[in-house]
Amino acid sequence: MALRSLHHVSFTVTDIEKTQQFAEDFGLRTVEKSDNHIIMKTAGGDAWCYKAVRGERGFTGMGFLVENASDLEDAVRDHGATPVRKLETPGGGYGVTLTSPEGMKIDLVHGIEGDTPAEVQPELRLNTPASRVRFSEPQETRPLGPATLYRLGHLGLYVNDYKKNAEWFVNTLGLIVTDSMHIPNVPQKTVVGFLRIDRGEKFVDHHSVFLAEDKRSDLHHISFEAQDYEAQFRAHRWLGSQGHELNWGVGRHPLGSHVFDVWFAPDRYRFESFSDTDLVNNAHVHGHHDISKHEMDCWSDEPANKYFE
Ligand SMILES: [Fe+2]
Repeated sequence: MALRSLHHVSFTVTDIEKTQQFAEDFGLRTVEKSDNHIIMKTAGGDAWCYKAVRGERGFTGMGFLVENASDLEDAVRDHGATPVRKLETPGGGYGVTLTSPEGMKIDLVHGIEGDTPAEVQPELRLNTPASRVRFSEPQETRPLGPATLYRLGHLGLYVNDYKKNAEWFVNTLGLIVTDSMHIPNVPQKTVVGFLRIDRGEKFVDHHSVFLAEDKRSDLHHISFEAQDYEAQFRAHRWLGSQGHELNWGVGRHPLGSHVFDVWFAPDRYRFESFSDTDLVNNAHVHGHHDISKHEMDCWSDEPANKYFE
C-alpha cells in the first residue's frame, strides 16, 4: 500500500456558522454547505480537505490519498478496511476506512478530481548584508486578510499509547518515523513521534502525522501550508482583528523547521498554518531526542505548555 499525501480531516462541530466563519477567516474556502454540514478546501487544487457535520464537538477522522486504486483493495484484503465505496464528497473518487488501535477512523481515498490551484503570490525578495536583490523598490505588501492556503499538510494526534499507535501507523500505513522524543534520560520510553509518508527517494514533508502520548485520545491540531512567514504574519494580524483566539505563534519549530501559527477554532481544536518545512527522503537518519533538552520554538521563550493544555 502506497500513500501519496494527507488528504482530509473531518469533525463534528457545535456551530456550523461559527465554524465556517472561523475557517474562512483562517483561509479555507467553502465548497458545499447545508444547515447540517460544511465542506471546505484550500486554494491549492484539492477538491476538499475539511468536513464538519453538526453535532457534539469531536474529531471524526482523517484521510490519505493513495497512489493506486489497487491500494484500496490491498487495504481491504491485508488490513481489514471496509469495502471499497464510491465517495459522495466533491471530486468523487473511491475510498475505504481503517480503524486505528484507539478507534480513530482513517480513510484511504483515490481518484478524486481536484481543482485548479491558485497562483502563488510573488516570492519575497529580501535584502540581506550578503545579498542585495531589491533596488528602489519597496517590499511586496501582502493584503490583510485570510491567508492563501495551499494544502492540508499534517495533523497532530494525542494518543493514550504512543508505542502501539506508532507501530500501527508504521506497519499498516507504511509511515516512517523521522524524529521522536523520549522522556528525560529514558531513551526506551518514547512519547512523541513525527511520522512521514514513505515515498522512497522522493522528498516529502518532515512529518504528515505527529503523535503525542497523553491521557486524551483526540486530535491535537491540523496544519495547512501557507506561502511563507510573511503571509503567516499578515494572516495572524487578520485573525486577531476578527476576534479569534490565538494559541501559539508566530514561531519556528526546531524539528521540521517549519514556521507555525496556531489558532483556536470555535470548538477549540487547533488550526495551524505552516511554511518552510524541512523535506526529507529515505536518506534521512531517524533522530531520537530527550524531550527535556528540546525547545519547541526557536523564536520565543514562551513555554510550550499552552500548546498542549
Ligand atoms: Fe504542526
